[in-house]
Amino acid sequence: MKKPIFVIEHLEQKIWKWCFFEYKNISKIVGKENVWFTNLKRGTGILRKYGKVIRKSVREFDLEKVCVLDPEAKKTLTPKEANKFDYFVFGGILGDYPSRKRTKKELTKFIKNARARSIGKEQLATDNAVYVVNEIVKGKKIGDLKFKNGVEIRINKIESTILPYKYALVKGKPLVSRDLVRYFKK
Ligand SMILES: C[S@@+](CC[C@H](N)C(=O)[O-])C[C@H]1O[C@@H](n2cnc3c(N)ncnc32)[C@H](O)[C@@H]1O
Repeated sequence: MKKPIFVIEHLEQKIWKWCFFEYKNISKIVGKENVWFTNLKRGTGILRKYGKVIRKSVREFDLEKVCVLDPEAKKTLTPKEANKFDYFVFGGILGDYPSRKRTKKELTKFIKNARARSIGKEQLATDNAVYVVNEIVKGKKIGDLKFKNGVEIRINKIESTILPYKYALVKGKPLVSRDLVRYFKK
């Protein structure tokens, strides 16, 4: 079976460290040959190891069989439908509370011929959203997957920090990139 392409439309001003760690994790999750990073005008060098880097925005492409992952979409992605798509487009957007609904405003409405689908009402980090969609493509229903709200990263014996997002559990552990954990500890 042909694997779909996971398109990450970078929508932050810079490739912040947090974005970079998530993008690296995405490459690890689905394989670099299946990842496109789009809308990257500057600082592309560091991402070449992790996928195809494209200066153009995905808005300028004329893709077919394309699904945009948007927490505001009315329909939820199912395994049956997931198999019909060749491209899944995600916002390279960092989480925010309350959500500014940037995916809908800056991405979904600009992608030609796309179906918008959600993978639940709460926002996940982009790497987690990619993991979930990849699992759905492999046949899992969203209800088969396990999640945890809020992850605590212990910095030392006294201090810790809480990441206030929803994380997929992989083998019982929240999917947080090791680089991000190391970064917080530093
Ligand atoms: C951290 S989320 C960004 C959410 C952001 N607050 C917004 O304004 O849309 C990063 C990306 O992951 C994907 N994503 C995260 N949670 C999702 C969900 N529940 N349903 C569909 N896509 C999701 C979307 O593609 C989104 O652009």
